[in-house]
Amino acid sequence: MNYNNIEELINDRHSVKQFDPNYKIPHEEMDEMIQLATKAPSSVNMQPWRFAVVESDEAKAKLRPLIRFNTPQNDTSSAMIVIFGDLQCLENSEHIYSSAVEHGMMPKEVKEKNLPIIQGMYNQLPRQAMSDIVKIDSTLAAMQLMLIARTYGYDTNPIGGFEHDKIGEALGYPLDRYVPVLIIAIGKAVKEGRPSYRMSVERVVNYL
Ligand SMILES: Cc1cc2nc3c(=O)[nH]c(=O)nc-3n(C[C@H](O)[C@H](O)[C@H](O)COP(=O)(O)O)c2cc1C
Repeated sequence: MNYNNIEELINDRHSVKQFDPNYKIPHEEMDEMIQLATKAPSSVNMQPWRFAVVESDEAKAKLRPLIRFNTPQNDTSSAMIVIFGDLQCLENSEHIYSSAVEHGMMPKEVKEKNLPIIQGMYNQLPRQAMSDIVKIDSTLAAMQLMLIARTYGYDTNPIGGFEHDKIGEALGYPLDRYVPVLIIAIGKAVKEGRPSYRMSVERVVNYL
């Protein structure tokens, strides 16, 4: 899909819940879309988002009892992308900051000064605070993924209605480490999404 501008792209995204069940997204394309989505900003660039791309019949069967009224999306989508936030994302901190230095994106001194501070800060955060951070970060990537999907000719439906306490274990993402954030159903639409109402700016904005 070609879009002339971001406004057109944003206006064109609607939740779609019925997809062509025979269409699978090639992994190369899925990887490209996810790679672009991960250009999203994240707290101290820790990139805690993890994507479980549920596409096989076996994996979808595991998901089915855990997604309440959202079974049509599971049954017809190319994939249900279950996004988790990694509470132990700090494990990648050395890799991320060293790579930034290697690629000339960050002076070595900045890494050496900032990384220990960041590690110290994250290490002493309570679970709830860390969970809030990884959820915010992962949600930003999720939104980008939905818009990027449109440019690849796919449609999506964000899904929050699932068993948050069970989904991780079912997919090999244990709850003590991974916080479930959102599922994104993705595929080729067979039934177009409908425009949905948005409140006026006056109702939601307050200039102070
Ligand atoms: C966090 C979140 C959770 C949602 N959960 C569900 C869900 O469980 N099932 C569903 O069909 N749609 C779900 N939606 C989709 C919303 O109903 C939809 O985005 C909203 O009505 C606006 O419509 P639009 O996406 O077409 O603009 C969810 C959306 C968000 C952002």
